[in-house]
Amino acid sequence: MSKTFYLTTAIDYVNGHPHLGHAYEKVITDAIGRVHRSLGESTFFLTGLDEHGQKVQKAAMEQGKGSQEYCDELAASWQSFVGMLGLDHRDFIRTTQDRHKKVVQTILSKLHAEDHFYKATYEGYYSAKQETFLTEKDRHEDGSFDEIYGEVVRLVEDNYYFKLGRHQQWLIDYIEANPDFVYPDNRRNEVLGFLKNNTLEDLCISRPKSRLNWGIPLPFDEDYVTYVWFDALTNYVTVPASMGDPALPGFDFTSDNPPSLWPADMHMIGKDILKFHAVYWPIMLKAAGFQLPKQVCVHGWWQKDGQKMSKTTGNVVDPVAVIDEWGVDAFRYYMLRELDIGPDGNWTDDGFQSRYAAELANGIGNLVNRSLSMLNRYRNGEVPAICNELEDEVNNVAQEVIDLSCQHKLQGALKRTWELIARINQYIDQTAPFKLAKDPDQAGRLGEILYTLVESCRVIAVLLNPYLPGTSAKIYDQLALKDTPDLFKKSKWGGMQAGHVVGKPNPLFPRKDLPPKK
Ligand code: MSP
Repeated sequence: MSKTFYLTTAIDYVNGHPHLGHAYEKVITDAIGRVHRSLGESTFFLTGLDEHGQKVQKAAMEQGKGSQEYCDELAASWQSFVGMLGLDHRDFIRTTQDRHKKVVQTILSKLHAEDHFYKATYEGYYSAKQETFLTEKDRHEDGSFDEIYGEVVRLVEDNYYFKLGRHQQWLIDYIEANPDFVYPDNRRNEVLGFLKNNTLEDLCISRPKSRLNWGIPLPFDEDYVTYVWFDALTNYVTVPASMGDPALPGFDFTSDNPPSLWPADMHMIGKDILKFHAVYWPIMLKAAGFQLPKQVCVHGWWQKDGQKMSKTTGNVVDPVAVIDEWGVDAFRYYMLRELDIGPDGNWTDDGFQSRYAAELANGIGNLVNRSLSMLNRYRNGEVPAICNELEDEVNNVAQEVIDLSCQHKLQGALKRTWELIARINQYIDQTAPFKLAKDPDQAGRLGEILYTLVESCRVIAVLLNPYLPGTSAKIYDQLALKDTPDLFKKSKWGGMQAGHVVGKPNPLFPRKDLPPKK
């Protein structure tokens, strides 16, 4: 059985509201998943929610709700958000599901039995807001703690610890020997710098139930629940393990048709949670005897108008509002085209609107509209005989776009596709079919141009499929093709058959009259 390309996003805190950052992470991961599907590979994309922890427990209590009831309500709105983004995910994990509890507890029992944990008394500082213990290193010179930690209290508490230190050198060697493990390079260097300049402290993996009950109980001590990060990271293994993936033995699940998902090919995460994914997670997996994911891919953070997004100042981009007004593909396009995976990005409404007008409405929208209108007007929609005039040129660009897509250079792939769109729009201006149509002697030449135009639209639809799936499907629909644009190999020139009758054009990205700028 060949391995399925398995990719994941971080799981979002259920008590937050979906914002641009969550949307971005999901859309780039979705596009990569779809790229692999367009290459003909089987692909499994997982996203979901992180539902345990003190904040959830507290918020539920404040609303007079049970924690599970509170999570169920929020989970419904997250799931509808995921639906709005047009994701092609294959599962949606919630850390409160039984399958997940079972997997977390199995791993905990195994690690406990194999002596990876010990119990000790902790005496020190604790931030309830960040749900984390703090050390002297986290203090400012004047002894205070940063405001991101909220109220910091002195705590004396018995807890379980995971012996991380013994794996430190192994992890350094692993990351050095596997340069693709953390992408991009600056993030890899950040992890290596951290590992080489610090002694890894053992990780506290429990919380006493007396303080926090909204968590997965430790199977070997009923007075404790699991630390949220130990719980959350395990989600990536839960789904394949619960489906019976043979690469994850030791779990009590059976399946007649087990998939081959593990190891994950890619965990997509934001830069703030790098340490959890590139230090704690590989060590947890190594200790449990499982293979490591092939790549932790780290994207940057979005700002709005050069400022941190924050609800309190109102400086936010609401993805739902943007999608409602402009459509999901316009939203996907702006994020994918504006920001490469790695650096930080800056959303501006002006930038969004000018890309919409220039690249969507006037770029791809105009090309498809003009091509179909002319074919309808001059030939009643009937595709003329094949013309090879731009065959090599378009095939070459298509191959470049496919190569860039394979390397997960999503922004580069879109740039190249839009160069092709501009080139074909320019070809219309240069060949001026609207003039040739007036001269019956030019009927042959007109036919060649019309073929070139509709075939180019078809090729572009295939190339766009992973990025703007709705638009790609609409183009195929307007071309009245029975087939789907689902595989890159269909981009090869010559797919349009002479005599086929295309449909009527319908604006892909309607032009918008915007209110005048103040
Ligand atoms: N629950 C943890 C992740 C556990 S993964 C085993 C968490 N949740 S989160 O809701 O705070 O963040 C989810 C993802 O959104 C993270 O990868 C984070 O980096 C990303 N983003 C949050 N804000 C962002 C921006 N402003 N811009 C881009 N991505 C950002 O952390």
